[in-house]
Amino acid sequence: MCGITGCVGREQTTDDLLAGLRNLEYRGYDSAGLAVQNGEGVAVFKRSGEVSNLCERVRGTHLTGAAGIGHTRWSTHGPPTDANAHPHTDCQNQIAVVHNGIIENHHELRTELRERGHDIESDTDTEVVPHLVAEFLPEATSTEDAFRSAIARLDGSYAIAMLVEGEDAIYAARDGSPLVLGIDEGAHFLASDVPAFLEFTDRVIYLEDGDVAKLTTDEIEITDVDGNSVERSVQTVDWVPEDAKKGEYDHFMHKEIHEQPTALRQAIRGRVDPDTGEVTLEDFPEGSFESIDTVQFVACGTSYHAGLYAAEVLTERGMRTTVHRASEFVVNPPPADDGTLVVGITQSGETADTLAALDDAIERGIRTLAVTNVVGSTAARTCDDALFIRAGPEIGVAATKTFSSQIATLLCLIRALVRDTMDSADHDAELFRALHALPNKVEHVLETSRAQQVAHRYQTSEAHFFIGRHTAQAVALEAALKLKEISYEHAEGFPAGELKHGPLALVTPETPIFAIATGRNDEKLRSNVEEARARKAPVVAVAAADSPVSTVADDHLTIPSTHPDLAGVLANVQLQLLSYQVASLLDRPIDKPRNLAKSVTVE
Ligand code: G6P
Repeated sequence: MCGITGCVGREQTTDDLLAGLRNLEYRGYDSAGLAVQNGEGVAVFKRSGEVSNLCERVRGTHLTGAAGIGHTRWSTHGPPTDANAHPHTDCQNQIAVVHNGIIENHHELRTELRERGHDIESDTDTEVVPHLVAEFLPEATSTEDAFRSAIARLDGSYAIAMLVEGEDAIYAARDGSPLVLGIDEGAHFLASDVPAFLEFTDRVIYLEDGDVAKLTTDEIEITDVDGNSVERSVQTVDWVPEDAKKGEYDHFMHKEIHEQPTALRQAIRGRVDPDTGEVTLEDFPEGSFESIDTVQFVACGTSYHAGLYAAEVLTERGMRTTVHRASEFVVNPPPADDGTLVVGITQSGETADTLAALDDAIERGIRTLAVTNVVGSTAARTCDDALFIRAGPEIGVAATKTFSSQIATLLCLIRALVRDTMDSADHDAELFRALHALPNKVEHVLETSRAQQVAHRYQTSEAHFFIGRHTAQAVALEAALKLKEISYEHAEGFPAGELKHGPLALVTPETPIFAIATGRNDEKLRSNVEEARARKAPVVAVAAADSPVSTVADDHLTIPSTHPDLAGVLANVQLQLLSYQVASLLDRPIDKPRNLAKSVTVE
């Protein structure tokens, strides 16, 4: 949600900022802008709409300069107009600021600044920041000093980058929204997320809440808001630049769907023994979870569906397990005690709702664990422990490969929980041997899928209903979410048995039913399918060829046979392809669906 870029020490500052913004566009695409120190002052360009509009605006301006900042916006305060686009400047246009997050006391600051003669033009909360800095600058001993004084006045969450006329430097501050610095020979970068500068460097410093930084060509200085020096370690990320490029694919989503065999192999590498099915989790040796008797999963969106999936598996193994939408967890926190483990599932590790839920658990002294894709993310750093899903960067707004990787990783976590807390001799060898074989089966689905034909047949339907039982009910919800997100078509997912308790009223010959079979409870699922068929709904079996559900279907998205706890992952791949194909036929902007952003950093 909103992407920030910055660089100092590069020759092609404007090109680098635009490249960084394009790589961060998944964080928002309502408007975009940049500011460059061009030798004569701070030049600011901004445009509503996607980064391509900004590129048009900047084309031919021959902007040069050693330092610059950029922004791509997902609107929170004020509509996506040119005026509300970042950067925002002070009255003299000498200070330019980009911001991600929400400044909660902006009304109060705006009134105060207006009374002191500042002309504030936009509806955004951000614009108060350059005016505040301008207010402090005349009395301050340095720009850093004025910047820190301004930052100290802000309530809310922010990642901020600032450029000041006449200085080849970027000032930055973070509290509650992500900000990472990149270190290259003779140049420094700054961004909301690593893909912005991954083509230049893999050496990074993750800023922490309360950090204030000054970046010049030669140096990075980090302090707290009082000016005390702070040490932050340099880390090397193991992503490669190609991970953040579309390559031969038309869309990141399509590329990431096809990356799932690799992502799954990475998720289980070194964790699952293919012969014995034994699971070893780095950082969680035997006994790590022996005090745990209850697990509460908290997450949003697709990650919430991964939580629902994992909860089915863990409950079946005898653990008290609940799953919570993070935004509701904070409203009404479930009771917990010393035996409770709160597991935050979050691809980005930066989703504000999930972080708020985890903070709530941390404040109550509950043990927390982040299951995330991003090393150095806020969730990874604030929780007691972190377990990484190792999917590589995911750029498409619609989450795909990270769902599969979350499930593979959560299954390994489940194994460790069961190992430490149950008296069972069964170590689920069959499941984990099947997990080891899963990447090849996903490959088979990708090579043989008939999703395009099925999409063609049903793309003009009134609505699409997805049903399943056990883990497949989570897949039904996820499939419906995916289709809604990227095609804007009406789709709903239900536990199959619930169809007859209400949704059946919507079933007509114009509403295909996608029945997701795992190989467990398939007979019951077939009965639910028959109920829909009696209302003349076309049925698509997302099932193994020998499933009883396949025998009563009009169409098939066939999955290879596997362990019932893994069939949902294969079915989900078929349904990701289906959503992709429907959205493609309808000519939707697949990687950047309207009104959405990949990483939502406001509650
Ligand atoms: C946003 C995205 C979803 C994603 C959700 C949770 O809403 O559009 O695709 O599932 O955030 O993201 P997280 O990074 O916490 O998994």
